Amino acid sequence: MSSPALDTLDLGDPDTFADHDLDAFWRRLRDTAPMHWNPPADGRRGFWVLSRYDDIVATYRDNANFTSERGNVLVTLLEGGDAGAGRMLAVTDGHRHHELRKILQRVLSPRVLNEVAQTVRANTRQWIREAVESGGCDFAEQIASRIPMTTISNLLGVPEQDREFLLSLTKTALSTDDEDVDEVDSEMARNEILMYFMEVVEERRDSPGDDVISMLVGSSIDGAPLSDEDVVLNCYSLIIGGDETSRLTMIDCVRTLAVETGQWRRLKHGEVAVDTAVDEVLRWASPTMHFGRSVVRETELHGVTLRPGEIVTLWHASGNRDERVFERPGDFDLGRTPNKHLAFGYGPHFCLGSYLAKVEISELLQALRDFTTGFEQTDEALPIRSNFLTGFSTLPVRFLPDHSGLKEVLQ
Ligand code: HEM
Repeated sequence: MSSPALDTLDLGDPDTFADHDLDAFWRRLRDTAPMHWNPPADGRRGFWVLSRYDDIVATYRDNANFTSERGNVLVTLLEGGDAGAGRMLAVTDGHRHHELRKILQRVLSPRVLNEVAQTVRANTRQWIREAVESGGCDFAEQIASRIPMTTISNLLGVPEQDREFLLSLTKTALSTDDEDVDEVDSEMARNEILMYFMEVVEERRDSPGDDVISMLVGSSIDGAPLSDEDVVLNCYSLIIGGDETSRLTMIDCVRTLAVETGQWRRLKHGEVAVDTAVDEVLRWASPTMHFGRSVVRETELHGVTLRPGEIVTLWHASGNRDERVFERPGDFDLGRTPNKHLAFGYGPHFCLGSYLAKVEISELLQALRDFTTGFEQTDEALPIRSNFLTGFSTLPVRFLPDHSGLKEVLQ
């Protein structure tokens, strides 16, 4: 793969990420053009590109000069807005964001998620054990696809028989591994998810359960109950926010550990704390390459005046490799501390599902450590095409069983 020139590369085009290794590009941007202008291309507007860790953090924190209400990813920012603005948590600001976040925080807090975490543990251990005993599998398909979707479906009370269908939609909604699938297909998938939840919300209004949807149906902000649309949009945001991001991180984790055998041995022999390892897995994968904001008030950065309406994109793909903040950023080091990575964003919109995502990755690492002595990738992994997410949709692996670990746990 080639390393492209600064002015020829279009970060709005999903193919850019499939066709180039961007490590050297990001380093050049951080060093020489921290305030880079991605010019208009293919009918898309131009936008600012921030690549340094400190600039990304400062922009995430600054909700006076920047807003999420006109979209928070390139797809919606470039279209001129997000249909969920002011109603879906991630694209709502100010007082309503604060109140809605309090409601959703109640169901995603570590205390409340204790039972969900136990189920993640039981499922992950069972699925890894089965894969190890059968010698290998497509890790992406057979394990990484199941963990987050099962977890969020349990939270939302999505019936077993609907989960495959929802998974097929979320796989198309934000990214694809198929060149024939375009933005229209993705938009249709997003609409189908919304329609699906519309029906579920109606059902839960008639007969509530103890799931998150029923809780949202019974919630109010400033005395006004959440509307069906509000509930649907926030269910959508949980499923979209929690499925593919966690899935891609787990796939990247196994793919990386298969080659980083020294790091794998440190994990296997208990030389690194699992929680510390989880953060490095997240920094390394950085599955959401960017988020973005729109300028609401004229402001200045690196001597450049940003004008209201302009789009500013914040690239975790670069910030998480910024040598101004991370020592040896190009090394995958499971013992890395401190590790204040940006995988979950920063500031008022910091990821609400971070605890759940960490539980999932932690259980994966523990199951791998307990049941295998090692593993290897047996065939090519298929990369996804997206300007937002990065990672792979397949990962054929062979596992080497740890017989004593497998036996111990059976007793
Ligand atoms: C590895 C997995 C994950 C990654 C890398 C990730 C990343 C992020 C990032 C970077 C943001 C900030 C967006 C912004 O500032 O515009 C965010 C927000 C959010 N995430 Fe996650 N996420 C993950 C897992 C999850 C899970 C499991 C859930 C839910 C179950 C979830 C739900 C949300 C929600 C609701 C928001 C919006 C928060 C707000 O606007 O206040 N995420 N996520």
